[in-house]
Amino acid sequence: MRTRPLKVALLGCGVVGSEVARIMTTHADDLTARIGAPVELAGVAVRRPDRVREGIAPELVTTDATALVKRGDIDVVVEVIGGIEPARTLITTAFEHGASVVSANKALLAQDGAALHAAAEEHGKDLYYEAAVAGAIPLIRPLRESLAGDKINRVMGIVNGTTNFILDKMDSTGAGYQEALDEATALGYAEADPTADVEGFDAAAKAAILAGIAFHTRVRLDDVYREGMTEVTAADFASAKEMGCTIKLLAICERAEDGASVTARVHPAMIPLSHPLASVRGAYNAVFVESDAAGQLMFYGPGAGGSPTASAVLGDLVAVCRNRIGGATGPGESAYAALPVSPMGDVVTRYHISLDVADKPGVLAQVATVFAEHGVSIDTVRQSGKDGEASLVVVTHRASDAALTGTVEALRNLDTVRGVASIMRVEGE
Ligand code: HSE
Repeated sequence: MRTRPLKVALLGCGVVGSEVARIMTTHADDLTARIGAPVELAGVAVRRPDRVREGIAPELVTTDATALVKRGDIDVVVEVIGGIEPARTLITTAFEHGASVVSANKALLAQDGAALHAAAEEHGKDLYYEAAVAGAIPLIRPLRESLAGDKINRVMGIVNGTTNFILDKMDSTGAGYQEALDEATALGYAEADPTADVEGFDAAAKAAILAGIAFHTRVRLDDVYREGMTEVTAADFASAKEMGCTIKLLAICERAEDGASVTARVHPAMIPLSHPLASVRGAYNAVFVESDAAGQLMFYGPGAGGSPTASAVLGDLVAVCRNRIGGATGPGESAYAALPVSPMGDVVTRYHISLDVADKPGVLAQVATVFAEHGVSIDTVRQSGKDGEASLVVVTHRASDAALTGTVEALRNLDTVRGVASIMRVEGE
């Protein structure tokens, strides 16, 4: 075993960074045995140096992250500060000065993954980021390595714990969105500003990363269609229950049926209670992968939090250190397929549409005609109502999003349609 320790610089010492440092210390002997050399925490860059950081020698703490990554003797930089800058510049500087990088930064990878991979390759270094998607759940490495010989057709997941907690609460208690969000906030699951979670930005970044790896194609955040879950109502859950479904915020990355293009999207959707993703409760994450040879696989676990995320970071740290000792690098970006990313209008799925209509002769026929004119085939229709007003729930067969959008526009123009109460996609059947 070599005795010169591998030097690690930690950028950020918040909830995740402090756990990374703690586990590096408490598991030092095991990490040494598994890597084949000791790993040493050589510096910790923080914004607020005055905060007490238990277990971290004060002389390791610095506010000058740039100087730390430029030292030249650092083997691995662990970036857990998040956001685009200064993380992007620090990571590229780290490569330039001889370090490999482990990052948990989904926003940066989703936006600039190609450039960062290119920088890593140019300098012959590793860029690993298992913690960027679904916290502790091993997902990037299974997709990138274990399934490298297979052909992945769909990746569908619950990749945001905050929104899954809220939706699960609405499902199990009948609460409305705001009430469930308030509870999530009080319990610390939702941040004071929950926008990134509830509007689907966090999940969209993860979808971009997963689609890129699964389809060997560059997929950026801007390529991902995104709808948040703030409009989901207790009435939607009641409708879902009548269909034997629940509602989840899903990230869905799909290869088109002809294999010639891919799509990536995030939106709330109804899924049957029999689907494995329907039983993912609370703040847990899970990702369902469908491939030619393996068939169906499900990855499940905690998608956030200090220790779970640190587990993924440490796994990457061990892998990168092993590569370094072996004088090798792990797999870099694989984007050779370069498939076009199709717009949302090309996505084909089923829809659940709830309409408020006048309850008089001919209305059902009028509504059905609009669906027919747009080539959208109806599977079931359910009507309830009284006093001249009715609620009409239409579930369609598979249709393109463009055809459905045209249908809904035309329905809104009918005098007898008072309003479109909700439109929800139906997935996982
Ligand atoms: N805010 C995210 C979630 C965790 O609720 O799952 C970090 O991506």
